[in-house]
Amino acid sequence: MKNKFYLTTPIYYAISKPHIGHAFATLYADIIARYQKLQNRKVFFTAGADEHGSIVEKKARQANKNPQEFVDEIALLYLKAWRALEIQYDVFIRTTSKQHKKGVLNFIEQLYRTNDIYPGLYEGLYCINCENFLTEKELVNGLCPDHLKPPQKIKEKNYFFRLQKYLPLIKEKILNQELKIIPKSRRNEILNIIENGIPDFSISREKVKWGIPFPYIDGQTIYVWVEALINYLTALGFPNNKRFKEFWPSDLHIIGADINKFHSIFWPALLLSIGTALPKTIFVHGFFTINGQKMSKTLGNIIDPMTLVSKFGADATRYLLVSQFPASEHGDIKESDFSLKYNTDLANGIGNLLERITTMIIDYKNGFLKKTNFDKNIIDSVQKTEKDYFKHMENYELFYSLQDVFLFIKTLDQYIELQKPWVLNKNQDTRIDKVLATLLWGAEKIISWLEPFIPSKTLIVKNYLFKMKKGKLKLSDGKRVRLNLFPRIKEE
Ligand code: MSP
Repeated sequence: MKNKFYLTTPIYYAISKPHIGHAFATLYADIIARYQKLQNRKVFFTAGADEHGSIVEKKARQANKNPQEFVDEIALLYLKAWRALEIQYDVFIRTTSKQHKKGVLNFIEQLYRTNDIYPGLYEGLYCINCENFLTEKELVNGLCPDHLKPPQKIKEKNYFFRLQKYLPLIKEKILNQELKIIPKSRRNEILNIIENGIPDFSISREKVKWGIPFPYIDGQTIYVWVEALINYLTALGFPNNKRFKEFWPSDLHIIGADINKFHSIFWPALLLSIGTALPKTIFVHGFFTINGQKMSKTLGNIIDPMTLVSKFGADATRYLLVSQFPASEHGDIKESDFSLKYNTDLANGIGNLLERITTMIIDYKNGFLKKTNFDKNIIDSVQKTEKDYFKHMENYELFYSLQDVFLFIKTLDQYIELQKPWVLNKNQDTRIDKVLATLLWGAEKIISWLEPFIPSKTLIVKNYLFKMKKGKLKLSDGKRVRLNLFPRIKEE
């Protein structure tokens, strides 16, 4: 039987079209999902939109739309962007859907019966942009540290969840790796929060109307973060669908650094309370800045993934976004570097190497290669690359996997320079068979490693090689069908 692999992405607030900060986690998940499928695992991969709560309510009002109409439009923009980036999720879960509401109500009803809920008065600060209750201590110059906006003062009756009761158990599970948080720095951050103590948290709102009404308690709406987290269950058809039984617990939640506390403390506590298994791994990625600055509408430096796709194509955009810096760190994006990186890595790197190899095989051998063994040096290099590549992929370190592949691309480039197949051909040296066969084997390895990252381009290469091996790429006028995978573009 195949091993299952359930992975999720954050569901983004349906308030505006996605930017590359949003695209990042979803793309990251898509690459992992494709990789896992290639390892013959049974994968389920979810994306979605967070469509309730006060920020959505406010943005809809500003746009003069009723909230449902508003989120319907925004959700479409997400679907469009994910399609453009060739994201192959299995379910796009919307929190205004019937399926989601039904599952959430079931969850909250179970929670209600646990005695882990009690009424209280919330008097304090709230950042509407992150839908988060804040303490004075968390503010930076009086502002929400993530949004740099002043929080609202609110005072309302809320229902609280006995979070504190579960902190020791969560800590234990993090320490014994039952609940893995990657990278270490993010795990330590969570352990510190637990160590310093954290109050029980509010799971309902009194003054927010756009949401799911709290069962059994009049006048309360389920706190948007609680129902948002539950999407990871409702996407599988929780509680009764057989898909839920098959795929839960999640193997991997991919999230950004700003929402770590919700996923690594609140979410496990809620699950423990109703006696449901905890996620196995939470992978926390860093934040992008653009030319050193926070991405924001006011600064006008928001990068739309659709713009990148129309300029570079889907595959190159995918590559450019994950090859900038290791995901587990914060990173700065320089948009003007994209063209340079495109030309260096894709056009001159992989594209050029594959064209060189196939050109020689077609020109010298018409596409037909003798069966021979491969060059020992290259066999060693493939084995080393494979070891590193798989280790990094299994640890979700995509940046480093790409580095492994590009190191091997360099090795093959050097091998060509050293062996000079054009000289072997001219001298009718029989060693050419082994050299070309080795190169083709290396090229096929590269394609297999890059498939999760640039799936359309690798498919083009596979088809090309298929035809090449049948001698179908030399045209009757002696010309060759070109493999121009990543045409060079003008640099800015
Ligand atoms: N709706 C919640 C998530 C609920 S998940 C159960 C939410 N939505 S969000 O629209 O604000 O965006 C969430 C994700 O986008 C976070 O993981 C966040 O880290 C990511 N990013 C938003 N801006 C980003 C950057 N500039 N850089 C990298 N990721 C960023 O929070």
